[in-house]
Parts: sequence; structure tokens; C-alpha cells
Amino acid sequence: MSDDQVVLCDVKNNVAVVTFNRPKVLNALNAELLNALASTLDRIAVDTSIRVVVLTGAGEKAFVAGADIKELSQCDALTGKHFSEAGHATIDRLQALPIPVIAAVNGYALGGGSEIALACDFIYASETATFGLPEITLGLIPGFGGTQRLSRLVGVNKAKEYIFTGRMIPAPEALAIGLVNKILPVEELLEETLKTARSIASKGQVSLREAKHVINAGFDMDLSGACKMEINAFSLCMASRDAKEGTQAFLKKRKPKFRGTQTS
Ligand code: CAA
Repeated sequence: MSDDQVVLCDVKNNVAVVTFNRPKVLNALNAELLNALASTLDRIAVDTSIRVVVLTGAGEKAFVAGADIKELSQCDALTGKHFSEAGHATIDRLQALPIPVIAAVNGYALGGGSEIALACDFIYASETATFGLPEITLGLIPGFGGTQRLSRLVGVNKAKEYIFTGRMIPAPEALAIGLVNKILPVEELLEETLKTARSIASKGQVSLREAKHVINAGFDMDLSGACKMEINAFSLCMASRDAKEGTQAFLKKRKPKFRGTQTS
């Protein structure tokens, strides 16, 4: 890992910490950073030693303060479309990672920064964190999925108010509307997030993947179709070595040792 890279990835104890690293511009998302994030996600996707991902921002002020406005200011309709498509593709890839992804939001998460956090499985935030989709103040709209993911998470009317006004959402408000799961003092944020990440990483990998898949895929389905999918996923878990290990460990009153293998 070299400190001059715009995206850092540090893997320890089966947890990858991915850090956005352009602190001088509050980790704003330029094309270089988006490409680096995409390559990092590709590497994570094939590294079976990684069981959980934590995303955070370098420096004391920001997770990510949005798309790089300097670059945005040069865009026309076509290059703007390409930029939005590239952002969507990368964020879709993030959301599609089969392993859990937690955002540790340590400051401003604005525009594309909120949109990245929204694509994670859940968000822990520092007391200093500020969310928001302020694109309207630039004569734009959210371009990396914010109109859709914020509405789905906090409800359509709340999302409309935030997007129409561009108003910032301080951490306590983000907690109250269910945008973040937990608020922590800034100096404890990463360690507490890692504790949760390590706890998740110790669970059965097959069941973790199935749980994530069923929750995400079921969200846009009708209840009965989604419940059928859950039945199939449950049966798939039952066939796994992890399920044999988990149930036997309970009966023998010992801690399970999950290996993440499908076959029994
Ligand atoms: N793009 C490029 N540079 C940015 C940036 C961004 N999104 N956000 C901050 N910076 C730069 C500033 O220009 C400044 O650089 P200089 O020191 O060279 O002047 C540096 O980061 C520090 O920022 P500030 O001096 O502004 O810090 P502050 O504490 O006074 O304010 C802030 C912090 C409220 C986050 C403010 O920087 C801000 O409003 N940033 C822009 C936020 C924004 O509008 N984000 C949405 C972008 S559009 C988008 O994301 C579209 C999409 O959906 C993908």
C-alpha cells in the first residue's frame, strides 16, 4: 500500500479497509479515483481471504465530498453522461459485492459520497459526519444513484425534501431517519466499525452471502416471490459445511469454526 494512491486498500484479519485518499480536496471523486475504486473492487471480488469490506475517507474532514466539481465544470451533456454512467457502474459493482460492505463515514459525505455510502450494506458515522445531496445547488441532480437509493432507504417524501433543498443532514438527523445505524465519537469510529466487521467476518460465509443476496434481490420483488427465494437460499445454506459446523458446535457447546465452504 502506498500513500500516494487515491484509493488505499489494507487487508487484515479478513477485513479490507478501503480508504478514499484525496484529503486536500476532501476526497472528491474524480475520474482517477473512480477508476481506482473500480479496480480495487475487482481485486476484492476475487480475493477469497476478504470476508468484509469497510469504506472510509482519509483526513479529518471528509468521507467523500462528492464528485470533483472542477472536473464536473468541464463536462457537457455527453461527457456528463459518461461520468454518471461510470459512477453508476462502479457503485453498482460495490453494491453487488457478495460480501458485507460497511461505510465508516468520518466527515462530509456529500453528493457522490452519500451515494457511495447508500450503496453499502449499512453505515456507521462519526458525530462529525454530515450527509446530503447538494447537487441542486450546482444546477444538477444526484448522478450516482442518490435519487433512487435515498428514496428507498428513508422514503420518497423525505428524499424529495433533501434533494429539492440540497440541505445538509447532520449525523443525529441521519440516525433519526434510519440513514445510519450508529453514531460514534470520531476517534472511535474506525475501531468500532472494525469490531463489527470482524464479528461479521467470523460468521458462516455461505449464510452471509445468501442473507445479503436475498435481502437485496428481494427488496424489489413481491413478498411471495421474495419469500420463495428465501426458502431456496435457506435450503442452499442447509447443504453447506458451515451449517453442519454451526449446528454441531451449538449442540456440543463449543464455538463454531466456519470455513465458508458450500459442500458438506
Ligand atoms: N470537488 C472538488 N473540490 C472540492 C470538493 C468537490 N466536491 N469539495 C471540496 N473541495 C475542495 C475545495 O475546493 C477546497 O480546495 P482548495 O483548498 O483548493 O480551495 C478543499 O476541498 C477544501 O474545501 P473547503 O475549503 O470548501 O472546505 P470547507 O470546510 O469550507 O467546506 C464543504 C466543506 C461544505 C464540504 C465544501 O467543500 C463543499 O460544499 N463542497 C462541495 C460539496 C458538493 O457540492 N458535493 C456534490 C458534488 S456534485 C456530485 O456529487 C454529483 C453526483 O451525484 C455524482
